[in-house]
Amino acid sequence: MAILLTGGTGKTSTRLASFLQNENIPFLLASRRGASAAPAGMPAVKFDWLDKHTWQRPFQHKFADGSAISAVYLMEPLVPEPWVPLNEFIDYASKDHGVKRFVLIAGTSSEPGKPGMGMVWQHLLDRGIDFCVLRPSWFMQNLTEEAPAFLIRDHSKIYSACGDGQIPFISATDIAAVAYRALTDAKSHNCDHRVLGPELLTYDQVAEKLSAVLGRRIEHVKLSRDERYQSLVSAGLSDYYAGFLSDLEEAASMGFETSMNDMVEQVTGRPPKSLSMFAQENREAWV
Ligand SMILES: NC(=O)c1ccc[n+]([C@@H]2O[C@H](COP(=O)([O-])OP(=O)(O)OC[C@H]3O[C@@H](n4cnc5c(N)ncnc54)[C@H](OP(=O)(O)O)[C@@H]3O)[C@@H](O)[C@H]2O)c1
Repeated sequence: MAILLTGGTGKTSTRLASFLQNENIPFLLASRRGASAAPAGMPAVKFDWLDKHTWQRPFQHKFADGSAISAVYLMEPLVPEPWVPLNEFIDYASKDHGVKRFVLIAGTSSEPGKPGMGMVWQHLLDRGIDFCVLRPSWFMQNLTEEAPAFLIRDHSKIYSACGDGQIPFISATDIAAVAYRALTDAKSHNCDHRVLGPELLTYDQVAEKLSAVLGRRIEHVKLSRDERYQSLVSAGLSDYYAGFLSDLEEAASMGFETSMNDMVEQVTGRPPKSLSMFAQENREAWV
């Protein structure tokens, strides 16, 4: 058994790779930048969802123990209609290379057949292939991404259109831990998992928690949907992505993300990380 991790330089795949490495399970990271951006010492290959010539590369990789790829972690590229290449790749990998299981990362609003990752979910159901769909809430790591981290560090501000909406923020490490089980458990999960953090927080409360860890006041600046969209476009995001993010935040302001469960503990046997713990561990990103 070997596992292919698309999104191979991303937040969840690199953490998932560490889980696999610790258990001596062969894996391969795949992304456009390949080995040049993958963590040191981890096998990686150049792969582009938008260039079919690269799709065979992971299957040409020689794993040390002679394993063949039997499961794939699927992460969409940020393009309109990402389900088109993903569905074609699923058919290619399963028919031409005998891949048996796919674990897909999607979002809160995903449903089978709905444009977005719902189209991939439906495709897996239609093909009768073993699968699992992860539907995580918002990543704690968004706060340590380049632009938000800069705004917290240099301006002590978090900007959002989330208002007083509550969100069960989740660590990418906990998402990776659920993905690890979905990819490696002997019995395929064949369902979706809502992967949620341990507490519901507004961004005002997130700002309070960061303030406590940093010893200075962090402010949550509440923007309207349109103000948020304009600020994201001004910061260099595409119209498509700025619109997507500001719509998500407006929906969160109306309670769309507000739900709780104990899925992480059910699947992994341990509770998910709190935002206070995450903030303590990542304090350096904001100083
Ligand atoms: N952030 C959140 O709060 C949140 C919440 C819910 C769901 N999600 C979902 O989580 C997923 C993102 O996960 P993540 O944060 O682990 O990823 P990430 O850190 O955003 O990384 C994205 C990865 O995709 C690769 N990539 C981009 N375009 C590609 C292409 N054309 N071909 C091949 N690889 C490509 C990038 O590598 P290269 O640049 O090297 O190609 C990178 O490895 C998305 O599906 C998102 O919808 C996120």
